[in-house]
Amino acid sequence: MIALGATDLRQSPDEVLASGEYPLTRRDLSEIAAMIYSDAGIFLNETKASLVYSRLSKHIRSLGLSGFREYCALVASPAGAQARREMLSHLTTNFTRFFRENHHFEHLRNEVLPKLVERARSGGRVRIWSAACSDGQEPYSIALTVLSLMPNAADYDFRILATDIDPKILSLARVGAYDETALETVAPAMRKQWFQEVEVQGRRKFQVDDRVKRLITFNELNLMAQWPFKGDFDVIFCRNVVIYFDEPTQMKIWSRFAGLLPEGGFLYIGHSERVSGEAKNLFDNTGITTYRHIGKSMGRKA
Ligand SMILES: C[S@@+](CC[C@H](N)C(=O)[O-])C[C@H]1O[C@@H](n2cnc3c(N)ncnc32)[C@H](O)[C@@H]1O
Repeated sequence: MIALGATDLRQSPDEVLASGEYPLTRRDLSEIAAMIYSDAGIFLNETKASLVYSRLSKHIRSLGLSGFREYCALVASPAGAQARREMLSHLTTNFTRFFRENHHFEHLRNEVLPKLVERARSGGRVRIWSAACSDGQEPYSIALTVLSLMPNAADYDFRILATDIDPKILSLARVGAYDETALETVAPAMRKQWFQEVEVQGRRKFQVDDRVKRLITFNELNLMAQWPFKGDFDVIFCRNVVIYFDEPTQMKIWSRFAGLLPEGGFLYIGHSERVSGEAKNLFDNTGITTYRHIGKSMGRKA
């Protein structure tokens, strides 16, 4: 992957693009953008200067640094490896919601799961991947949908893999405890059956039951890196993440997904995303941001 600078440094590199406690110059933004692109595929340009400023300035203060110049030098150095991982957590957007884009869960329940449940009941293997799972609301929504059809799914070879690049958000996902407002999009019967009221650091939360958690494995995974999978997935959810990648990176990801789905497997993507590039020929667009794989592809081991 090429490391892409966000900005044209022939254009006054010391110009301040955002400021407050510390100035963020074009040179600073360019270096941060190149690092986040090479680490996570996330594409930042100058329109994101205020966002970068607001997400990182507190972090710079907590590290006791004098400003963005010193910060850039730190995160580019071997000694700054931890700070660089934290930079990633600060710059990624983790917004999510239970049953977000609910039409995917309706499609999954009505069109996809009946066959998969039958397969699992007769001893077959079923795998679903939530490929940018954030704090877990997406994979838990998938699990709740599965459990609504097959309450004992975890006793069978039926598993959901939930991955994200951000270890901090994954630790929240593993705990699976949410504010009551997050549960507004969960049906009352589901809430009652699969969540327990708990207190976390003095705050009232609702925690996903262990019977739901048993269906899910959470792992750190960078979509830009090698994927360590041995088998196929029947369904892939990759929603609201490739929107942060540039077009060539998105096209590669779609082909890699095609390589992991059997014929008839489904890919669900985010509301403002579209399968593009060569992979377009490998999928039927069967509904809103819903794609059915029509055959094996190149890119099996991408
Ligand atoms: C906006 S959230 C989407 C969450 C969920 N899929 C949804 O639609 O509600 C985007 C997630 O993608 C993750 N992410 C960003 N870059 C990534 C990468 N290169 N590999 C894996 N995950 C990444 C972020 O950490 C974040 O949790």
